[in-house]
Amino acid sequence: MTKHVTAGRHEAATRIGLRRAAVVAVVWMAGLAACTAPTAEHGVRRALPTVTTAGAPVPAYAADPAAGARRYGEHCTACHGADGAGDGPLSAGLQPPPPDWTADDALQHRSPAVLFQAIRRGVLGSSMKRFDHLLDPPATWDVVFHVWQLRVEPEMLRRGARDYARDCAACHGTAGVPDATARTPSLVRPDWVRLTRSQLVDLLVRSHPESSARTAGTTDRGSDVAAIAEHLWSFLTTAPESSDPSAGVP
Ligand code: HEC
Ligand code: HEC
Repeated sequence: MTKHVTAGRHEAATRIGLRRAAVVAVVWMAGLAACTAPTAEHGVRRALPTVTTAGAPVPAYAADPAAGARRYGEHCTACHGADGAGDGPLSAGLQPPPPDWTADDALQHRSPAVLFQAIRRGVLGSSMKRFDHLLDPPATWDVVFHVWQLRVEPEMLRRGARDYARDCAACHGTAGVPDATARTPSLVRPDWVRLTRSQLVDLLVRSHPESSARTAGTTDRGSDVAAIAEHLWSFLTTAPESSDPSAGVP
């Protein structure tokens, strides 16, 4: 009996220790997220929190999809098409053909990290050559997030921003960085580039089972959680329009 109590106390102490560590980590990440750093080619960029991943690529700076769109027009449209449908003028007869990113679930089961690697290294046995000599890592992430958002309707981004502000910001912070005193994880997470869209939605629903229950009564339960997940992706980008919850939402 006594043993149990002691064990319980020990556990509680450990838990408090962990909480304190978490708070310290959050403060530290909040500091990092707030600081900006100049990069030689890309101007002043918001630095993302540093994460350690075993070799997998993660962005160090907030990606700029608008800059990515310009580079995409320069280097990629010829094959992939302006809208990413894979129908650019050079695409005729290519075997394998460029993917159709406008297809319904095309970018549902891929991760930004997989796109990043394809762009940097090329795809063996296809006309997709490597671009690592033309695009440095920040420029590559810009292009990745341009492609990532090709199919996302602005209306969905606005809905996600609005729902996030209403349902999540109180705990996780308006920009995904919680208050220093909160015991809530930061949602500015460069390591999430290794997740597919479906996996981020799963993570969200698993962490907050009530969020799917709450939206179950609305017209499209799936897309509400998906819209919020889109907003979480935008924490890794500069996308100012998507982080303004009041922009154009009725
Ligand atoms: C000469 C034509 C051509 C050009 C130019 C080109 N691509 Fe590709 N790309 C392809 C083809 C073809 C594939 C399909 C390869 C396969 O399925 O094996 C592909 C595949 C890809 C993939 C992997 C697709 C996936 O869903 O995993 C990505 C990402 C990609 N391209 C991005 C780009 C970007 C970004 C640019 C410009 C910087 C670019 N490509 C330029 C032809 C091209
Ligand atoms: C009442 C405070 C609160 C609200 C409101 C809230 N969260 Fe959380 N969230 C937390 C806490 C605390 C955790 C950590 C839970 C855990 O580790 O079990 C968490 C975890 C998460 C995670 C997992 C993070 C990780 O590292 O695995 C995601 C994603 C997330 N929340 C997103 C959201 C979104 C999106 C909303 C709005 C729909 C939301 N949360 C609303 C407190 C909150």
